[in-house]
Amino acid sequence: MINIKYEELPDVEKKLLNEAEKAMETAYGPYSKFYVGAALLTNDGTIITGSNFENSAYGSTICAERGVILRANAMGYKKHKEIAIIGRGEDFDTEEVIAPCGSCRQVLYEVSQISDYNMKIILSTTKKEKIIITSINELLPLAFRPKDLRIDIKK
Ligand code: THU
Repeated sequence: MINIKYEELPDVEKKLLNEAEKAMETAYGPYSKFYVGAALLTNDGTIITGSNFENSAYGSTICAERGVILRANAMGYKKHKEIAIIGRGEDFDTEEVIAPCGSCRQVLYEVSQISDYNMKIILSTTKKEKIIITSINELLPLAFRPKDLRIDIKK
């Protein structure tokens, strides 16, 4: 896990984070009034974005991270290298980076298995003054794996 300044991010990660920031403004969050944007970098360099989509039955809410993964999958993009995540409140900016919830970590882990790659995860505060670069293996150690079911997802 490293802390990095926005100015020090490589251009690709800057772009990814900026796309996540734009996507954050598409969030549908009338209940929590918390808006999250996510941008996926596919293994061919395409960027795909998503945001959280809430529901009056609160448990049916879909986080930005899972939303963007489903969107990418439906577009035919299965393998990914990175995801950038950013969030804000209705009337506040985050002081610390927001990190994916447990369910999203498990789904990101599945994507990392499909991708054969320890996905990089870029987390940012609203104003991008604090940025952390981490990975799915770091955020979900000792994950439950396809292998635990004796499933080879490559077959
Ligand atoms: N949320 C995300 O979309 N991603 C996260 O990493 C954390 C939480 C959403 C879900 C819900 O719509 C709102 O933020 C408040 O929990």
